[in-house]
Amino acid sequence: MQQLVIASNNKGKIREIASIVEDIELLSLADIGFAEEIAEPYHTFEENALAKASAIYGFCGKNVFADDSGLCVNALNGEPGVDSAHYCGQRDDEQNTQKVLEELNGTADRSAFYKAVICLIWDGEVYYFEGICEGVITTERRGAGGFGYDPIFIPAGYDKTFGELPLEEKNKISHRAKAVTKMVAFLKTPAP
Ligand code: IMP
Repeated sequence: MQQLVIASNNKGKIREIASIVEDIELLSLADIGFAEEIAEPYHTFEENALAKASAIYGFCGKNVFADDSGLCVNALNGEPGVDSAHYCGQRDDEQNTQKVLEELNGTADRSAFYKAVICLIWDGEVYYFEGICEGVITTERRGAGGFGYDPIFIPAGYDKTFGELPLEEKNKISHRAKAVTKMVAFLKTPAP
């Protein structure tokens, strides 16, 4: 079976990705003995995803992918965007969601989208896969499922937040599911 390192310590991301990927053995950072934080200093998802995948490829030389993702709120000029994980100044999902709700207080346009960019390093070559999920921001937290901003994000066509929807439902339409599905299709395609 093909092996692939997932360059993340985010349990929410790992759970979602592991439930989509089949026929590939996913290795965690613990499996390869990597215990450090990986810096994400850039201003685009692409650059941060490449930084994470490259750091792990440099460490172990194995095929690896990294997901860099975030919530982009239109009325906030795309914020929190690449700063989603630390929007409130620290890695705290509840305070991050609270900050978005406060910033949007009284704002009519509550449209937003999640974006995920996967950087795959396979046999030393770099590939990117992207997924977007459109939706709107609620006025209060709803549901305890998912992670991050899920309790305040209602995907387009639904009336429940990702915090209220089961993982199987999120995995049909999420930004991450779309990006991971593209990567899996690429890996299944036989080399010419
Ligand atoms: P990073 O990719 O490690 O920079 O972190 C991504 C951050 O974006 C997460 O910590 C969450 O705050 C947010 N995020 C990305 N994808 C999701 C999602 O599917 N649900 C909720 N929050 C997400």
